[in-house]
Amino acid sequence: MSQIELRPGLADVPVAESAVSFIDGKRARLEYRGIAVETLARESSFEETAWLLLRGDLPTQKQLADFDDQLRHRRRIKYKLKDLIKCLPEHGHPMYALQAAVAAMGMFYPSRDITNQQSNWDSAVRLIAKLPTVVAAFHRLRHGDEAITPRDDLDHAGNFYYMLFEREPSPAIRKVIDACLVLHAEHTMNASTFSGRVTGSTLANPYTVISSAIGTLTGPLHGGANEEVLDMLEEIGSVKNTRAWVEDAVVKKKKIMGFGHRVYKVKDPRATVLQELAEHVFAETGQPVLFDIAVEMEKVCEGILGPKGIYPNVDFYSGIIYKALGIPRDLFTPIFAIARVAGWLAHWLEQLQNNRIYRPEQIYVGKQNQAYVALSQRP
Ligand code: SDX
Repeated sequence: MSQIELRPGLADVPVAESAVSFIDGKRARLEYRGIAVETLARESSFEETAWLLLRGDLPTQKQLADFDDQLRHRRRIKYKLKDLIKCLPEHGHPMYALQAAVAAMGMFYPSRDITNQQSNWDSAVRLIAKLPTVVAAFHRLRHGDEAITPRDDLDHAGNFYYMLFEREPSPAIRKVIDACLVLHAEHTMNASTFSGRVTGSTLANPYTVISSAIGTLTGPLHGGANEEVLDMLEEIGSVKNTRAWVEDAVVKKKKIMGFGHRVYKVKDPRATVLQELAEHVFAETGQPVLFDIAVEMEKVCEGILGPKGIYPNVDFYSGIIYKALGIPRDLFTPIFAIARVAGWLAHWLEQLQNNRIYRPEQIYVGKQNQAYVALSQRP
C-alpha cells in the first residue's frame, strides 16, 4: 500500500464538495451561497440568511413570510423538555444543557426516517426555532425564575433577547444581535460542522447530528474562545499593560484566544464587522475599557503575530459586544450555537443528497504480534 501521508487535524484535506459557503483566507472573503457575509449582516436578517443557507437561494417574499411564520410558531418546547432542563445542575455550563436538551428533543419528534424530505425540513425548522428557547429557558430556570414563553410577534433576535431579559431590545440592539447571528451562521468545514457531518453520514437523526455539533463547539479552540477572550482582556486590565502582556504570552508560547485561524491568514472579515457593530452598541451603552484594550491588543499583535498570519478571528470582538448587552459570559457560546445551527443543518441536508459514511484511515504505530501472558505469569 502506498505510504499514506498523515494530515494532523485534516489541515487542507477536502472531505466533501459543498456549495453552502466559501472562504478566501488570503482576501478575508466569506460568502454564504455566493453572497458576501458583510452584505448579509447589513442588509439581510438571520431568518432570511437561514433560508439562503438551507435552500441555496434568497427566498421570495412569500417564501420568507411563510418560513418566518413557521419559525415563530415552532419556538415553544414540550413541558417534559422544560422539566428535563429544570433537573440539570444550575451551575453546569449552558452549552452542556443545550447539548443534552437537543439530543432529548429528538425523542419528542419521530425523525429517524431521514429519507423523508418533509420530516427533515420540519426538524430543521424546529431546531432553528427552538434552540434559543432552550438556551433562554436554562438561563432563567438556573436562577430559579420561570422560563419566559416565546412571543410570536417578535423576530428571531428580538424574541431571544426578550426570553432572556423579559423586555424587548431597542431597534439598534435588535439589529446588532441579528447581525451577530448572521455572522456566526456558517463557516465551511469548521470542526463542529465536520462533526455534524460525520454523525449525519451514519444516517443518525437531525437532533443527534446537532447535538454532536454542539458538543464540538464547546471546546475553547473552537466556539469557547469568545468567553476566554474576556478573561484575557480583564487579566490585562488596562491599555498600558497590553504590550507587556502580549510579549510575555508570546515568549511563553501561549495561544492568544480570539486570534489565529486555520484558514484566515488575515483579519477575519467577521471580526471587522463585529468591531463596527460594537461601536453601534457602545453608542447606547457606553464604550467599555475592554474594547480599548482589545483595539490596543490587535495593534500590538499585528507587529508580533501578523507576520505569522495570526490575526483576530470571529471570537475576538463578539464577547465584548455581548457583555455590553448584559448577556452573561457563559451564554456567549450558546449564542454561537443558535446561529450556527443554520449552517450545520445546511451541511446535513446537502450531504444527504449524496451521502457516504465517513470512515478515514490511520497510520498504525503500535505493537504487533504480541503474545498473551497469563496473569499468573505477570508481576
Ligand atoms: C473559530 O474553523 C473555523 O472556521 C472556526 C470558526 C468558525 O466560524 O467555525 O472560525 C470559529 O473556531 C475561531 C477560532 C477560535 N479559537 C481561538 O481563538 C483559540 C486560539 N486560536 C488557536 O488555538 C488557533 O489559531 C486555531 C485553533 C484557531 C487554529 O489552529 P491551527 O490552524 O491548528 O493552528 P496551529 O495551532 O497549528 O498554529 C500554527 C502556528 C503555531 O505556531 P508554531 O508552533 O508553528 O510556531 O501558529 C501559532 C501556533 O502556536 N498560533 C498561535 C495562535 N494560533 C496559532 N500563537 C498564538 N496565539 C494564537 N491564537
